[in-house]
Amino acid sequence: MITKYCFGTPFETEAVTANLNSIAVTPFDLTKESSKDMFHCPISIKSDDNFSLEYEMEDNVIVYGLGEANRGINKRGYQYISYCADDPNHTENKFSLYGAHNFIIIDGNPCFGLFLDYPGKLTFDIGYSFHSKLRIFSEDSNLYLYVISGTNPYDIVKQFRELIGESYLPPLWAFGYQQSRWGYQTAQDIRTVADEYQKRGIGLDAIYMDIDYMERYKDFTIDEEKFPNFSEFVAEMKNRNLHLIPIIDAGVKIEDGYSVYEEGVAGDYFCKREDGTNFIAGVWPGDTHFPDFFKKETRDWFGNKYQYLLEKGIDGFWNDMNEPAIFYSKEGLENTFAEIKKLENRELDLTNFFYLKHLVDSLQNNEEDHKRFYHEVDGVKIRHDKVHNLYGYYMTRAAGEAFLKLSESKRILLFSRSSYIGMHRYGGIWTGDNQSWWSHLLLNIKMMPSLNMCGFLYSGADLGGFGSDVTRDLMLRWLAFGIFTPLMRNHSAIGTRNQECYELESTEEFKHLIGIRYRLIPYLYSEFVKAVKNNEMLFRPLAFDYPNDTQVRRIEDQLMLGDGLMIAPVYTQNATGRYVYLPEDMLYLKFTKGSDYSMEVLTKGHHYLLVGLSEVPLFVKPNHIVLLANPAQNTATLNRKNFTLLCYLTKEASYEFYEDDGITLPANGTTTNLSIDCPDTARIVTSEFVIN
Ligand code: GLC
Repeated sequence: MITKYCFGTPFETEAVTANLNSIAVTPFDLTKESSKDMFHCPISIKSDDNFSLEYEMEDNVIVYGLGEANRGINKRGYQYISYCADDPNHTENKFSLYGAHNFIIIDGNPCFGLFLDYPGKLTFDIGYSFHSKLRIFSEDSNLYLYVISGTNPYDIVKQFRELIGESYLPPLWAFGYQQSRWGYQTAQDIRTVADEYQKRGIGLDAIYMDIDYMERYKDFTIDEEKFPNFSEFVAEMKNRNLHLIPIIDAGVKIEDGYSVYEEGVAGDYFCKREDGTNFIAGVWPGDTHFPDFFKKETRDWFGNKYQYLLEKGIDGFWNDMNEPAIFYSKEGLENTFAEIKKLENRELDLTNFFYLKHLVDSLQNNEEDHKRFYHEVDGVKIRHDKVHNLYGYYMTRAAGEAFLKLSESKRILLFSRSSYIGMHRYGGIWTGDNQSWWSHLLLNIKMMPSLNMCGFLYSGADLGGFGSDVTRDLMLRWLAFGIFTPLMRNHSAIGTRNQECYELESTEEFKHLIGIRYRLIPYLYSEFVKAVKNNEMLFRPLAFDYPNDTQVRRIEDQLMLGDGLMIAPVYTQNATGRYVYLPEDMLYLKFTKGSDYSMEVLTKGHHYLLVGLSEVPLFVKPNHIVLLANPAQNTATLNRKNFTLLCYLTKEASYEFYEDDGITLPANGTTTNLSIDCPDTARIVTSEFVIN
């Protein structure tokens, strides 16, 4: 059951699609004795100038949720601030990441979920200040609170997902392996990547075009010198079964004669300062204006701009810098220079060193800048900081809505860096700039279920890490996990060590890992589409599937995947394998060398398993059928009819295999019911299977 409460005058974010009547709550209601019963769970709320919610957590309570957030699956013991931040150095002390997803589940007695639809800064203090206190507070008191009661955490997730509407469905080819790097400067650089992968027979479906394809980083332009005859180049890549994915940044370069800029000024599409002039922010192109995506006219205008690239054969995009990231504002620079001037005759000492350093460091992504520009919603001016978390969502919505018109029934790949719940209907996300650190591989693992809870199914991290130099073993281990994430993209920053698979020693091992992904794509895609349609999670904490097994309640480095799988990635350097806990007897399917794999049944309990650098362990629940396709080097040539069927059979087994053409929207697929009869004795079944 979901109850919607209204505090003050909330901003209509359109995060929620279901129509629910809300109960208006006044400060007077909260002082009454009856307020105890008002919320269907024992929370207490204060709401006057600002809003705060409190809940007393028993020791055994686990708090799930928050989507793209730091630390573990269980959010207890730390503080998380929903305020989309461009922070590539997100070490474990950070409070905010690129997305803001205000949904949590309190798994105790009672078990309930809370969604706070509030687009400004919102703090979740989950036992950080006081061990047993959950405190949620915001800067003002205008928000919708949804209280979801249910029988267990997964039931609450499903109700929540139904509330916020169906998740984005990408094309099938977006499940192929994808190579990216900031630093491919020319068409020839991209051709080289294609050549190097294809001549070695390593699977690949897409190559990314980072900011250098543009003319001086101007959105919806192509540098003709570096990318001559662009449409032909796109077609050449398509003939090689490769998709090109250009980046689109939020800021529009200020430059006379640049049509996007001029149209934006003429149409009044940009964010304004208080005095009505267009706000200027420094990003990659230098001085830019930010489109005011809060205005429908701006969304329509900007969304239609993607047509420039669609016409050239492009069928996928990544929207970036849309927190929005701000390197500097004019005001910030002016103030800083003025302060530095004052320092001219000061002592050259430690105090002034630190002061100077602080001045310069705080130029970038300074929250003061968020108070310097406004959005216009139905003729009303709203200061950016009040609705900050919606900017990336609305940018991606502009593109997603436009694609429905521009490409009609064809799916376009779209994902964004910044996001808010609601955006999951228009695109996926990548989890922003991470680092080539083992800790960020573990963070990637732990984040996947939380993202799924909030509706973000098509997601993944920069495999291998964006910043810092990768090591070969980290790349291999990260790929071995990335095999299971819907977005499987290797991306890295300019200036770091090259991390394309052919750049690292002994390519065979990389080829083998990516080969496993291709063999699993039809099955993973089937699981993915079913999760979209049924509001399910692709990745789940073990506790969701085994609620009565107290051993799994705190396991965070193994995940359930789809209906019947469990994964246990290796995420430590120099490890020869890892400990795995099996909540029941399972089929241990280990992908070894080449296209080989071994199978054995492991019993419920703890095991230490040896896992080599290019090996992938996968655990299959009894009586769950897994399908392996034949090896392929891209999704276009992937045979989705002939499979090897694997199952550990103890009674009868069945599986609903979903397939479609991978491109039409809405998905027009068919389901094939596979079944195997009850055996005389438990056994592993392998058989060839053809779908008609
Ligand atoms: C941002 C993006 C990163 C991209 C870079 C250059 O840092 O997060 O993925 O490569 O900008 O465009």
